[in-house]
Amino acid sequence: MSYKLTKIDAKHLPMRLLVKNIGILAGIDTGGVSKRCGDEMSQLTAINDAWILVEDGLVADFGTLSPPPSGGGRGEADDQIIDAHGGAVLPCWCDSHTHLVWAGSREGEFVDKINGLSYAEIARRGGGILNSADRLHEATEQQLFDQAMRRVDEVVAKGTGAIEIKSGYGLNTRDELKMLRVVARIADSTRLRVVSTFLGAHAVGREFAGRQADYVDHVINDMLPAVAAEGLADYVDVFCDTGFFTATETERILEAAARYGMRGKIHAQELSPDSGGVQAAVAHRALSVDHLESMTDADIDLLRDSDTIPTALPGTSFFLNMPFAPARKMIEAGLPLAIASDYNPGSTPSGDMKFVVSLACIKMRLTPAEAINAATINGAAAMGISDAYGSLAPGKVANFFITEPIPSLAFLPYAYTTPLIRRTYLAGLPAGQ
Ligand code: NIG
Ligand code: FE
Repeated sequence: MSYKLTKIDAKHLPMRLLVKNIGILAGIDTGGVSKRCGDEMSQLTAINDAWILVEDGLVADFGTLSPPPSGGGRGEADDQIIDAHGGAVLPCWCDSHTHLVWAGSREGEFVDKINGLSYAEIARRGGGILNSADRLHEATEQQLFDQAMRRVDEVVAKGTGAIEIKSGYGLNTRDELKMLRVVARIADSTRLRVVSTFLGAHAVGREFAGRQADYVDHVINDMLPAVAAEGLADYVDVFCDTGFFTATETERILEAAARYGMRGKIHAQELSPDSGGVQAAVAHRALSVDHLESMTDADIDLLRDSDTIPTALPGTSFFLNMPFAPARKMIEAGLPLAIASDYNPGSTPSGDMKFVVSLACIKMRLTPAEAINAATINGAAAMGISDAYGSLAPGKVANFFITEPIPSLAFLPYAYTTPLIRRTYLAGLPAGQ
């Protein structure tokens, strides 16, 4: 057993759970796979007519044809048997980039975009991130939690089993801490695996309008120490792009974060190819560098010599009508590409990872196997949790979903709006029950 379950996981665990009559059991390995790079991304190991056995919330074993009788032969009273009725079983999506905690909504800006304004123009007019910060400022922690939990329940039902959630709509110490406490509460009250990221440098807070350098000092000298003191974040993010934060500011924040043992997960190269975000991220050993819609070949070369995971957000390109990240080039360069939803109120109000997988296939030319690996094992790696999540291997947490019967794995992204995911299991227990 490689992973210790949290107190919530341990609370109502059936000792053993057997899922039988699985048409396709995919995303399996025998352990030790922590990410898939380049050509390896085509390897999505699957077996047909399969079963999987869960013990104490962890994957115990799997195989084909006849399952072990009554959950493994011991016939214990608390064994449970689930019939998959020929559906597929896959590891849960690992969504490594979201801004799922926010207040209200921004469909007004959606209409502004339809009428011709760009994302950057909306931000310059005081909309965008600052609009969400104003609403978040007025919301209580309880209101924020209730709104976020509706989104959590929705994405879990759609197959997500691990998620990264960023702050970044607070933009002052009090409200950034409020957001991160909501993230901590989500982690404490669900069996979803939650990773949290401090994104104080998402935009310059209103109190610091016109004083960006002072705001960066405030992030480094006040916010970061407060976040670290409460142990509220695993990682630190910066929106490094033209019109937001510079590469030099990003490097300062990453240096400060390193002093608290926190690595970066950086927003980079979304709006401009020469903002230097990939360079800053690689130089400071960031865990991931995300967006990359306007990345260059030189950025790909830098990533090749690093252990920073490139993460594409195809839902954002779709929603904002922007170019897609050059995913094929990254895979051809041997990189471990991850894909994530970027679920947020401005640039992509959807956390539907099955749709993200479809977009990766349709718009970035990933094969279904590559896209599923990008959304599972490589997403887990981009959160630093692939020792326990992202594939179905003995000793890993039993986070999986069961689908309707499908003719092949390619059917999942092909039927791009059909609700094929029937039930999600987190640590071996059905979600939403
Ligand atoms: O990842 N690009 C920066 N931040 C978010 C959008 C946030 C917002 O518009 O509220 C993103 O797309
Ligand atoms: Fe984002």
